[in-house]
Amino acid sequence: MKNSKLKTPIKKIGVLTSGGDGSGMNAAIRSVVRYASHNGLEVAGIMRGYQGLIDDDIISLSHRSVSNVINKGGTLLKTARCKEFFTREGRKKAAATVKRHGIDALVVIGGNGSYHGAHLLFSEWKVPCACIPGTIDNDIRGTDATIGSDTAVNTALDAIDKIRDTCTSMERIFVIEVMGRDCGFIAIESALGGGAEDVLVPELKFDLRKICERIKKGRLKGKISWIIIVAEGAAKAQAIAAKITKITRLETRVVVLGHIQRGGIPTAKDRILATRLGSAAVDLLLNNQYDKAAGIVNGEINVIPVREAIKKKDLKVDNFYRLINILT
Ligand code: F6P
Repeated sequence: MKNSKLKTPIKKIGVLTSGGDGSGMNAAIRSVVRYASHNGLEVAGIMRGYQGLIDDDIISLSHRSVSNVINKGGTLLKTARCKEFFTREGRKKAAATVKRHGIDALVVIGGNGSYHGAHLLFSEWKVPCACIPGTIDNDIRGTDATIGSDTAVNTALDAIDKIRDTCTSMERIFVIEVMGRDCGFIAIESALGGGAEDVLVPELKFDLRKICERIKKGRLKGKISWIIIVAEGAAKAQAIAAKITKITRLETRVVVLGHIQRGGIPTAKDRILATRLGSAAVDLLLNNQYDKAAGIVNGEINVIPVREAIKKKDLKVDNFYRLINILT
C-alpha cells in the first residue's frame, strides 16, 4: 500500500509480543496499555503473538492489568513463532480476528520476523500496525538497541565472570557460546565487557589457526587461561573447542549459555527503552502513522518505515574486535 496515512481516528488498539521473548517486553506492554488508556483508547491483548490472532485468543487490558510487571522478564501476553502466519491464508484469518474485535490498529513488539508479519498484514489486509523492537539479538535497523538486548548482555557477562573463576583456577581454555542467530551483538559486547581473549562473530571471518597460534605463544609466555566467546551464528562452540584441542593439545571446556540470556529481571536500560518505545508506538497510531517502526537513535525516538527496518542491520564490530585483541 502506497499511502501509509489512513486518516481515520482510532478507538481501540491491540498489542502483541511475537517471536523470541526478551526481558523488558512486559515494560513495553505496560507502557502501551497505560499510554493508550491515558489517550482514551481501549486496549486488547493478543495472546501468543500472531498465533492469538489466528486462534482468536484476545483479552481485554486495562491500567490495572499491567500492574507490577515492569520488573518481570518474559511476556504476560506469551509469545510464539507462528508458522501459519507465514501463509496468506493464516494472515487472512488474523485480519478477520482484528476486524471482529473492532481493533483499529496493532502494536507489534518483536524481532525481524514479527516486523515482516506486520508489514504483510498492513499491505495485504490493511491492518494498521506500529512496530517496536523486542529481541535480544539487537539486529533491527533504525534503533541503537532492542528490548532485551542489554539484559542479555548483562546475563552473559555474569556467566562469563563466574566461568572466569574456574577457568583461571584450573588453567583451561573455555569456549562460551552466546545467542545471536545472525548477529554478533551479544558476543562482541560480552567479549569486550568480560575481558575475553577472543570472539567469533558472524560479521567477521575468523582463522582458527591464527587463534591457536596466539594461544600457543601466550602459553610460552606463561599465560594460563583463555576465554573465547562464540556467537551462535558464527560457529558451534563444541566444534571450535574440539579443533582448538586438536591444534594446541590443550584442554578445553565448552559452555553454551542458551536461553538464560532471554530471561531475568530487565536492566534499567531495557525498562527505560521499552517504556519509551511503548508510548512512541501508540503515538504513531494516534497520528495515523502506519507501517512504521519506532526505535531510539542517539537517545532520541527514531521512526522509519517497517520495510526499511526489516533490511539486514549492519552491525559495526571492527573497533570492539581490535580492542579485544589488543587488550588480550
Ligand atoms: O530471539 C532471538 C533468539 O534468542 C536467537 O538469539 C536464537 O537464535 C533464537 O532466538 C532461539 O530461538 P528459540 O527460542 O525458538 O529456540
